[in-house]
Amino acid sequence: MDATDNPLLAYFNANPGRLIDKWEHYFDAYHRHLARFRGRPVTLVEIGVFHGGSLQMWKHYFGDQARIVGVDINPRALQLAEPGIEILIGDQADPAFLQQLAAKLGRIDILIDDGGHTMAQQIRTLQGLYPAVADDGVVLVEDVHTSYWQDYGGGFRNPYSFIEFSKQLVDQLNGWHSRDTHSFVPNEFTQRTRSIHYYDSIVVFEKGAHPRPRPCQSGTPSFEGDTFTSLGPTTR
Ligand SMILES: C[S@@+](CC[C@H](N)C(=O)[O-])C[C@H]1O[C@@H](n2cnc3c(N)ncnc32)[C@H](O)[C@@H]1O
Repeated sequence: MDATDNPLLAYFNANPGRLIDKWEHYFDAYHRHLARFRGRPVTLVEIGVFHGGSLQMWKHYFGDQARIVGVDINPRALQLAEPGIEILIGDQADPAFLQQLAAKLGRIDILIDDGGHTMAQQIRTLQGLYPAVADDGVVLVEDVHTSYWQDYGGGFRNPYSFIEFSKQLVDQLNGWHSRDTHSFVPNEFTQRTRSIHYYDSIVVFEKGAHPRPRPCQSGTPSFEGDTFTSLGPTTR
């Protein structure tokens, strides 16, 4: 995808506003997961304001009806508020702050974590704000390559890294199929998550109603007496 197909990348390349700090390959994932929200009265929350350029990019991309909220630990970010862009100050690793944030905002349609990128920050932010994200909302956790960096609390297969945490969520996404109910069963995450997408450095969670899946077949059997499917319901 190049700038002619991707308005976010076009904006970034011609950036008329404040400094934006992203990785080149993020724009493809952004447009793929976020295009459906354009022109709608959505609430986007981005943790990590820095110079404020990404907030201006979101405002331009989503349009005048969007509510863009930037969250940062650094109070200087307050200077970057402008019409259509609110700034809130707090620590994304502080569960009490995240609870207040969720209560204040009400509904979040899009949550982007581009904050400090440590393991505790990423995990606590997801745990704290995921329930506040709307049922058809999206969460993007950026720079998850820090899961492979010890100075961010990660390290290859470190059980406390964000990536290892997210792998448990992959299990939970498949919770309806568990035959090890002592190990895992469908939970709130299972029932409210439609998909998880892995990219280099980004994990995207698409929320959506996810009731118990039902197997189905159609067509005429090719072999008599052989219509068994291993995809049958798992009710144990
Ligand atoms: C990578 S920059 C954000 C870049 C910006 N989103 C952009 O695209 O241009 C990271 C920001 O996260 C903020 N930050 C670091 N730790 C934080 C924390 N614990 N809570 C909230 N924000 C934090 C930093 O102050 C910094 O402004």
